[in-house]
This record gives sequence, C-alpha cells and structure tokens, in this order.
Amino acid sequence: MSTEASEYAGLQSVIWAGEHLDLLDQRLLPEEIKYLSLQTSEEIWEAIRQLKVRGAPAIGMTAAYGVVLGSRVEETSVEAWHRTVHQQANYLATSRPTAVNLFWALDRMKAKADAIVQSGTSLELAKRGLLEEALAIQSEDEKTCRLIGEHGLELFKDGMGVLTHCNAGGLATAKYGTAMSPIYLAKEKGINLSVFADETRPVLQGARLTAFELQQAGVDVTLICDNMAGMVMSKGWVDAVIVGTDRIAANGDVANKIGTYSVAVLAKAHNIPFYVACPLSTIDLQTESGAEIPIEERPDEEITEGFGKRTAPRGVKVFNPAFDITPNEYVSAIITEKGIVYPPYNVNLKKLFDVQA
Ligand code: MRU
Repeated sequence: MSTEASEYAGLQSVIWAGEHLDLLDQRLLPEEIKYLSLQTSEEIWEAIRQLKVRGAPAIGMTAAYGVVLGSRVEETSVEAWHRTVHQQANYLATSRPTAVNLFWALDRMKAKADAIVQSGTSLELAKRGLLEEALAIQSEDEKTCRLIGEHGLELFKDGMGVLTHCNAGGLATAKYGTAMSPIYLAKEKGINLSVFADETRPVLQGARLTAFELQQAGVDVTLICDNMAGMVMSKGWVDAVIVGTDRIAANGDVANKIGTYSVAVLAKAHNIPFYVACPLSTIDLQTESGAEIPIEERPDEEITEGFGKRTAPRGVKVFNPAFDITPNEYVSAIITEKGIVYPPYNVNLKKLFDVQA
C-alpha cells in the first residue's frame, strides 16, 4: 500500500473482521500500512508482546478479541467453554505487565463469561455474547476518548504550544486517543495548537506514530529528540504538557512510557502544567502507589540496534525499562471521561468511582 496522506486519515489499529482480527502492524509505521490477519490467541499474545499493537486501551481491546478467538474451540458444554475463557484470559494477561487496561479488559471478559454461564444459555449464544462484550469494549473506548477530548479542551487556548511524549493518539485507542483527543477536537473547532512530539526512544512511538498521525490530521507538529524538551521549554514554546498513561495508582502516581518522568520534572522547573489523560479503566485503585506498579523491561536490542543497525558495543550492559513512574506531585491534573481531576488524587480519584474517600 502506498503512503499517500489521504489514505492515512482515520487509520484504525484494531478491526474485528467477523471471524478473525485485522490488526494494524504499528511496528511498520510510518513507512508501511499493513494489517495482520490474526486467527488465534497465541498470535494475539505475540502481537501484544512484540508491540505490533501497543498503547494501553488498544492492548486491552486486542486481548479481549484474543479471548474470543481462543475460546472458539469445539467445546461440548457451556461449562467447558467457560473454563477455556478463563484459561485464555489468564494466558493473555502474561503478554505485558504494566498497562492495567489489559487486565481490566480480560477481567471484563471473564465476568461476562461468568454471567453467561449463570444464565444457562446455549454454547452458540454464549460465544456470541462474549464477542459482543469485546465489541462493546472497543466501541465504548471510542466514546470515552471523545469525552476525554471534550473535557480536556477547556485547558487549551488558541495559539498554545503543547508537548507530548510517546503515542497516546488514535493508534493507541479505538479513535481520537487520550492525550491527543483534546488536540484533535481543538483542530475540529478551529483552535490552533502547535505540538512538539518527543521522538520517544528506544522504539520511537513519538516519531513513528504521534508525528505521523498528527501530520496526517493536519495538526501543526514538530518532532524533537527526547533530550530537546528542556531546550524547547526554556524558549517559552511550550504552554502545557499532555501525555497518556498505562496505569495510575490510587495516590495519582503515573506510569507511562520511559522518559515521561523527565518531561514532568522539566515541566515543573519551567512552571508548565503537566496533564495526564486516560479513561477510568487506566486508574488502578487496587494499587496504592507507583512503587507497586510492575515495570516492563524489554530486550537490549531495542537500544543497541534500535535504528536497524548496531549502535553500541557488543556485550555492553543495558538497562531498558519500558515505563517510568511520575510521582503525583508533578501531575497538575488528570483528564478522564468523567471530567478533570485535580489533587489531592488519593481523595479525588476515588470519587470518580463513587467509592468513599
Ligand atoms: O510501550 P507502549 O507503546 O505500549 O507504551 C504506550 C504508552 O506509554 C502510552 O502513552 C500509554 O499506553 C497511553 S495510550 C493512550
């Protein structure tokens, strides 16, 4: 497929195709648009692990379809099917550890299967019911992201400069993105924002994905290397930072792509607000603080051969965490589908779920 600008508009990363999943291979962007046809939960597991699909909400919805595919086996009873659903969900939960949306979506699929089995329905209807749940997770994500954009928009004014890190755009979600949703809605309403996209080492989600999708949407985007963020801020070109997240702990500590913490510290040093956008499914009240969030470590080659050739001496020691924790005191506000949340987060995040603070 060619890479003409018009063909990229509204690129959807996850498409249920009736009997299998069409998944956009995000590793190939921006050079190639290729959809993989995935038939099994093992293929889904690999796709998540290898970052063919990535971004917290997209991982969750893909895994949900993985449960559907993995439980299409010829079971003889609804009870046997129900056991398979649980096994498949537990298996898919081992694909990546940090984004809580993965576990949220898989728990939702298990709960749906529990409800189905209790209702005493046929095997055929049980399978259909499970697929409907996966489809609902995806369609709800689109609405949720739109709402995040609508709430977030009030923080942005015409002419502002905005810096982002990694990719929390349409490619990482069903549509619009989380952190990028206010940017897209601003564009829709004729509000002009200038975005600085960190390239996001080591695997360049900012350069390959964020710069790409913003450019395709006609948003004013400037790509910078991660180590240029401080300089750009010192020039006065950044009025706000906005990022997505893979998990927010009950106290408001934020896990996001490695390098986010450095950006937050820089933002504070320059008196620039640091916003985090996410659906409620990314907020993990069971996890008290960022110290408890498991941080994925990825292969050394992402750093030593990240540009398609060897860029470090063989045998060198490498540390490659995929995420870091931004302590809550650096977070100016959290934008959700239910509105904007301000500190103290240990009190105000609970209110989103109607849990007693
Ligand atoms: O390793 P990735 O590409 O899955 O990391 C993605 C991020 O860190 C995103 O910022 C986060 O998942 C939010 S996506 C709306």
